[in-house]
Amino acid sequence: MKAIAVFSIKGGVGKSATAVNLAHAAATTGGRRTLLWDLDSQGAATYLLKLAPKAGVKARAAVAGDRSIADPILSSEFPNLDVLPADRSLRRVEGDLAQSDKLKQLKKHLKSLSESYDRVIIDCPPGLSELADRLFRAVDLIVTPLLPSPLSERAEEQLRAELLKHHGGRPPVLAVWSMVDARRKLHRETVARHPERLRIPYSAAIEAMAVRQAPVAVVQPGSQPARAFAALWAQVEQALIAG
Ligand SMILES: Nc1ncnc2c1ncn2[C@@H]1O[C@H](COP(=O)(O)OP(=O)(O)OP(=O)(O)O)[C@@H](O)[C@H]1O
Ligand SMILES: [Mg+2]
Repeated sequence: MKAIAVFSIKGGVGKSATAVNLAHAAATTGGRRTLLWDLDSQGAATYLLKLAPKAGVKARAAVAGDRSIADPILSSEFPNLDVLPADRSLRRVEGDLAQSDKLKQLKKHLKSLSESYDRVIIDCPPGLSELADRLFRAVDLIVTPLLPSPLSERAEEQLRAELLKHHGGRPPVLAVWSMVDARRKLHRETVARHPERLRIPYSAAIEAMAVRQAPVAVVQPGSQPARAFAALWAQVEQALIAG
């Protein structure tokens, strides 16, 4: 099993959209047994797949290790795709995981999920928090969406510096341009500095995911953004092999 964190220091850059579409691509085109783990108390990824947490099963209790991590898991409407949903209780999970006996809790969860899943894709809340620190220790790859702006490039540098300083430069980071609008000069100039990076276009079909509560490959099959996420999934698999 391989675990992928969709992470950014910045908010609102397309993490949840990326996590949902990557998980859908992994499960459907990739044929991998996939778990989308929504670790953000806002629950955007859970919502985007038209799911709601089970009554009486708090995500915090499972993530903090007070009950089985398998308890909250839901099946999605797609083959091979399950979801570990988020709820508001996760707002306080960071404090739980910061306790010294819980340093390896996320790693333990991923180990226990490894029999049932080939890929676990985690939608993370923004920010370099304690939770992020625990995640960096536990996952195999970070996918970081970047808006085509100098501020995002700064956030990426900060992320790489943090990993070098505290985590021996691991795990590897796969950066992807997010919400690219080719009509804007700043966007064109910024993405041209890293032409090797995949570009997720600014797209009404991705916005419509929140209305339809479905992945973009379902909202608009074969569209440019759907193809971009399929291509991103292929890059993720390559990055996992390269380690
Ligand atoms: N490529 C895109 N084109 C157009 N709209 C997009 C695109 N990606 C995301 N959005 C929209 O931008 C908003 C933020 O996206 P999203 O929730 O995925 O970001 P996030 O990084 O997860 O945010 P947060 O930090 O709050 O968790 C949403 O309204 C989403 O529908
Ligand atoms: Mg989000």
